Amino acid sequence: MALADFDLILFGGGGDLAMRKLLPALYAHDRNKQLPQNARILCVGRHAWNRETFLDVLDKEAKPHIPTAAQEPDIWKNFCARLHYIVLDANDPHSYQPLVAAMRSNPDLTRVFYLATPPSLFAKICHNLAEVGLTNAHSRVVLEKPLGRDLASAQQINAEVGRVFSESQIYRIDHYLGKEAVQNLLALRFGNILFEPLWRREWISDVQITIAEELGVGKRIEYYDNAGALRDMLQNHLLQLLCIVAMEPPLSVQADAVRDEKLKVLRSLKRFTPTTLAHDVVRGQYRSGHVNGTAVPGYLQEGAPADSRTDTFVALRAEIDTWRWAGVPFYLRTGKRMADQLAEIVVRFKPIPHSIFAQNTSTFQPNCLVIRLQPDEGLQLNLMAKTPGDRMRLKPVELELDFREQFKMPRMEAYERLLLDVLRGQLTLFMRSDELEAAWEWVEPILHYWEQEQTEPAPYAAGTWGPAAASALIGRDGLQWREEALPEI
Ligand code: BG6
Repeated sequence: MALADFDLILFGGGGDLAMRKLLPALYAHDRNKQLPQNARILCVGRHAWNRETFLDVLDKEAKPHIPTAAQEPDIWKNFCARLHYIVLDANDPHSYQPLVAAMRSNPDLTRVFYLATPPSLFAKICHNLAEVGLTNAHSRVVLEKPLGRDLASAQQINAEVGRVFSESQIYRIDHYLGKEAVQNLLALRFGNILFEPLWRREWISDVQITIAEELGVGKRIEYYDNAGALRDMLQNHLLQLLCIVAMEPPLSVQADAVRDEKLKVLRSLKRFTPTTLAHDVVRGQYRSGHVNGTAVPGYLQEGAPADSRTDTFVALRAEIDTWRWAGVPFYLRTGKRMADQLAEIVVRFKPIPHSIFAQNTSTFQPNCLVIRLQPDEGLQLNLMAKTPGDRMRLKPVELELDFREQFKMPRMEAYERLLLDVLRGQLTLFMRSDELEAAWEWVEPILHYWEQEQTEPAPYAAGTWGPAAASALIGRDGLQWREEALPEI
């Protein structure tokens, strides 16, 4: 579907996200000839830059994020011609006049306001846009995460933004939903008959969802120390993945059909009690260590206050109180400075009930489906098979599907996909306000517990799989995290 002409107004247009992700993604679309001839990108920011300075910054900060093979001078020149830079103080409605003057007045033009700014500015910017008359029925607003820092602030953002834009005009980004492998999970579940009968408590023993990063917090310490892993990753990315794994088949892939089902999952998550908060949630903070053989400092040496209790790791055990899932533990885990860079969902099936072979059932590895999101995208299904020879010996084997190998086609980055969806007006991969609030409602008791109990995060050495308490959390159920169960190579 060809895109209709648009003006994309990028607040935070000189910022990190714009330079690293958004502008490279738009360049990729331009290179693929997906942008309408007259489409424009108006970058808005506080820096008193003129056009030349902005283009210099773009050259230094955005270009390195475009693959070298995709950097073509003519296309870059054409892309830069679409870009404009406007100095604006988001808080001050008077400073919006240059933006007003720069806008095209065609009433049918799609206007997208992308707010890549701190959430504390969302309400103010929307209000100011309305006040200076820039919003209309063809406007859309994109809100970057974090969407608040607790339930009350998320509700407030939803209410204030909702005064200016209707729900169908609001695109709340969770870039994990734009990843190919996440959409492939939808294809796997609802494009095949094979898994659906098994996708329930009768056959599944547990589900593990891990997003592990090797990187530390780097330059983002100011933001991160106020957020932590629970707010930065678990409340959004991990819970969204859990929703896609656990939701009932939606009526269609229409936005509300999918979002209704995800909402039901979030509302069915078993609420924490004081006991489960103490036992089923682990928070950690990295100390110095070695990642891939390189010595790296601890979190407190990276500019965090010496007494910071911010979580750079969180692991928890969740349950979903529905007929399909009651009693099946979902283990969620995420952390910075971990042993590996990976994102995966592991669905482990129950053991066979009885062995007809001379082999003891304990030597049978239960079947396991691994959905890999990162670094490579793929599926792995672990089965038992007979080893060649005259004896009936069974051994675990792996069926592998590597999506890159299978589909030798250019990949689309998550932000590329999501930006296209915004421009096309497709809301399926964006969060609805009630989903966002339900996710906050569920995690908020953890935040309160950490504050009230004044508990310290458990230390873990950089380059490991997190604190020992995280292994103990899953070990209590007689299980192991997948990486800990894998034989050492
Ligand atoms: C962001 C978090 O939402 O996701 C970052 O704010 C994190 O802290 C990033 O590093 C991880 O995303 P990805 O796509 O690199 O796994």
